[in-house]
Amino acid sequence: MLTGLNDTVRLANGVEMPRLGLGTYKSAEGGDVEGSVLAALELGYRSIDTASLYGNEAGIGQAIAASGVARDEIFLTSKVWNDEQGYDNTLAAFSRSLERLGTSYLDLYLVHWPRAQAHDTWRAIERLYAEGAVRAIGVCNHLEHHLEALLRVADVAPMVNQYEMHPWLQQPSLREYCETHGIVVEAWAPLMKGRVAEEPVLVEIAARHGKSPAQVAIRWLLQRGVVTIPKSVHRERIAENAGVFDFGLTDAEMSAIDAVDRGYRFGPEPDRGGER
Ligand SMILES: NC(=O)c1ccc[n+]([C@@H]2O[C@H](COP(=O)([O-])OP(=O)(O)OC[C@H]3O[C@@H](n4cnc5c(N)ncnc54)[C@H](OP(=O)(O)O)[C@@H]3O)[C@@H](O)[C@H]2O)c1
Repeated sequence: MLTGLNDTVRLANGVEMPRLGLGTYKSAEGGDVEGSVLAALELGYRSIDTASLYGNEAGIGQAIAASGVARDEIFLTSKVWNDEQGYDNTLAAFSRSLERLGTSYLDLYLVHWPRAQAHDTWRAIERLYAEGAVRAIGVCNHLEHHLEALLRVADVAPMVNQYEMHPWLQQPSLREYCETHGIVVEAWAPLMKGRVAEEPVLVEIAARHGKSPAQVAIRWLLQRGVVTIPKSVHRERIAENAGVFDFGLTDAEMSAIDAVDRGYRFGPEPDRGGER
């Protein structure tokens, strides 16, 4: 049952993760990110996604502090960037993220892209988890073969795989692989980078429900059991993106959206990707 922003999914280790959170890629520090995090927390969001790459962790930390919402009510995610991977580098990168965010722990720490040093990076992340510095651990942008390689060497399996997923890029076999292995799927670019209105099926279904294409795209993910983190720096859109709990998509509508998959990536292909 989907009821609201307090809905959570239980990760493999029992930690509860909000199903809908705020994305912050390209939300600039010094106004945009602080304003959007404050607005989101006021509107009832309890999950914020960032990364050291985004250069906005300090602003997010300040907004959380200013919000008056207790730290332990917020699910805070950050990520280790490509040039921070490796055992010692990852430990140092994690400390820097904590310091910038002004927090003593993270709720979720993710490997941003699969890299050659994946095993050493993961050992560092397992250590942070064992020490209680992070409540849950996971990866981003991992295809089946990356996950298989990681699962062969991991003492603690990743609890989350955050990857690009939206109506135009669905990768059903990857989702099935994750679900079979107890890895929660978290979709990035749920709004197709702001281009949801270019998909006529979303537009048509949205009109039928008196909703926006963005709301239909988010609802489709939630009904598939996928966690997601739409990004906006505008309060009215942050509210709109959370207005997805007062309607439901029928099986036929879900299938109609499944059928628009065209394997279209806005971001890099994980085997080649992650360099910007
Ligand atoms: N792990 C990874 O490698 C990875 C990669 C990319 C992203 N992410 C995470 O996932 C989050 C979401 O992905 P994303 O930011 O790339 O893409 P997205 O959420 O699909 O789209 C964001 C874009 O949609 C616009 N938008 C927001 N609400 C809208 C609405 N209701 N109607 C129409 N347009 C709307 C935003 O503009 P305004 O801000 O101007 O409203 C922005 O241009 C990121 O912010 C980040 O936290 C992770």
